[in-house]
Amino acid sequence: MKPTVQCWAVVPAAGVGKRMQADRPKQYLPLAGKTVIEHTLTRLLESGAFQKVAVAISVEDPYWPELSISKHSDVITAPGGKERADSVLSALKALKDLASEDDWVLVHDAARPCLTTADIHLQIETLKNDGVGGILALSSHDTLKHVDDDTITATIDRKHVWRALTPQMFKYGMLRDALQQTEGNPAVTDEASALELLGYKPKIVEGRPDNIKITRPEDLALAQFYMEQQA
Ligand code: C5P
Repeated sequence: MKPTVQCWAVVPAAGVGKRMQADRPKQYLPLAGKTVIEHTLTRLLESGAFQKVAVAISVEDPYWPELSISKHSDVITAPGGKERADSVLSALKALKDLASEDDWVLVHDAARPCLTTADIHLQIETLKNDGVGGILALSSHDTLKHVDDDTITATIDRKHVWRALTPQMFKYGMLRDALQQTEGNPAVTDEASALELLGYKPKIVEGRPDNIKITRPEDLALAQFYMEQQA
């Protein structure tokens, strides 16, 4: 299903994933018969929501050219950068002759292979008339503590705390400008934080808890379990 607004996907995939302690970046680890990144890209492509998918890949990455999906006609490869934000900016630049300033861009981590078509369309339908955009997020079911040196200093009111997931959906021109203006700022850990630093107020859309990010070795088994449940 094509949304009524024009959307592009950007996938930062130039990280090394040190916490996985694996012999290759985590997006190339095997999961249910494919690599993690093949699942992620297949889900974005099969959602039907996007004009193209721009993927930021490290220039020294020997694994990407080996995957047939790297040659898919709707996949564009851009050089990755030092930080995630640099990789996203690079992928946005690769779309500059294709995307219009007011088109929507959904930035999605390569390491989140369980994203559903339902969440993609929910996000686009919820935010497509918004002036800024927003992110998929999850509320916390646990009580949250503020801690200094192993000691609890406060209990945080959890109705004000959400976990930021991806996709993160913003206007092409606004996101590019925000990432350029905040370049090198260590507070920019996701796309929303770049816009927040400039005074914008992104929205949240409640996402599904199975949209996990592969970070540690045990996450692969969890992702496989979620995929079986989704099927
Ligand atoms: O390391 P982390 O899990 O936070 O990375 C999130 C996403 O950002 C991953 O898909 C990773 O490949 C990507 N990334 C990137 N360029 C970097 C660092 C991370 O594209 N320099």
